[in-house]
Amino acid sequence: MSQPPLIDLRSDTVTKPTPDMWDALKNLEDSHLGDDVYGEDPTVNELEAKAAKLMNKEATLLVTSGSQGNLVSLLSQTQPGEEILIEAKSHICLYEVGSAARIGGLTTKTFKSSRGVPSIQELEMMIRPRDDLHQPWTTLLAVENTHNTHGGIVIRPQDLEKLSKFTQDHNMKFHLDGARIFNAAVALDSPLHKFTDHVDTVMFCLSKGMACPVGSMIAGSQEVIDRARKFRKMLGGGMRQAGVLAIMGLIALEHNWRKQLKQDHVHAKMLAKALQAENELISVTMPETNIINFSFPEAAPTLEIHNSLIKQGVLGLHKGYYQRLVTHVGLSRQDIEQAITVLNTTFKKFLT
Ligand SMILES: Cc1ncc(COP(=O)(O)O)c(C=O)c1O
Repeated sequence: MSQPPLIDLRSDTVTKPTPDMWDALKNLEDSHLGDDVYGEDPTVNELEAKAAKLMNKEATLLVTSGSQGNLVSLLSQTQPGEEILIEAKSHICLYEVGSAARIGGLTTKTFKSSRGVPSIQELEMMIRPRDDLHQPWTTLLAVENTHNTHGGIVIRPQDLEKLSKFTQDHNMKFHLDGARIFNAAVALDSPLHKFTDHVDTVMFCLSKGMACPVGSMIAGSQEVIDRARKFRKMLGGGMRQAGVLAIMGLIALEHNWRKQLKQDHVHAKMLAKALQAENELISVTMPETNIINFSFPEAAPTLEIHNSLIKQGVLGLHKGYYQRLVTHVGLSRQDIEQAITVLNTTFKKFLT
């Protein structure tokens, strides 16, 4: 029996380049490429200039991945032995292999939250007294927008503004893990700078909802980006004719990403509402963007459900009783409708 084509809802990283990215790649000419470690790749330079404008920052840097972008942002704005404040369920804390500690020599102090935003009182309690000989200095705060593990929720610009004031008052730097900052801007129908104006550095991914196969960027002051360039080299992220990647980044930023991401958000809501309406035993968090978190009752045979879904061509992220579905450019309305049918019939079969 032949397998049906897979509807892959695990992540928005599973996408392939769009047709106009392929066209741009095919049309690249020798003169569009150069050695980017020497700063000589015109396509990378064009991408970095365009992205700086979009993010309203002095400069940007193309990096290999979101994890590398977060790490070089931390390395460029801290010294080994200092302490940073991050959220307990943030990507930097959970999924970046402890690089801040291993490579940056940083200790991390975490806060818990339901929406990724700490209260100012909480932060006041967390920072160390600068004049105490025994304690490390607390020098950076990082938050995540949209917040991945909290189901793609959006931190509001007014919250970022409050946090920014706090960091300035305490002589700290403020970094934003904006892997999905474009989703945040679309969800609030807001310009990107409303989010980035409040932070010293922002990392954003071209390889998540934006359909590029590789690449993330960081944005900040020229001084910080110059330092980041050196740290990127240290981490092995200096790429040569990287214009072959940057050309797709340019298409992603020029392309109508707002329309596409809006569609992804509509699809996520459709999915979430349909699951909630038909399955009283599962608890679905209504998505603000493209990530749907839901949970099964404790006794549910989650692995059997997951395997049955795979056989029927629907792939989600299996995390035990908590599951995640993510919509993206690779999925049509028809795929979403098909996924809803398969998910609902399977849940009914296993959860009654
Ligand atoms: C919020 C967030 N930050 C950073 C990253 C890291 O990106 P990469 O997988 O490109 O290293 C991810 C990846 O999923 C993410 O969701």
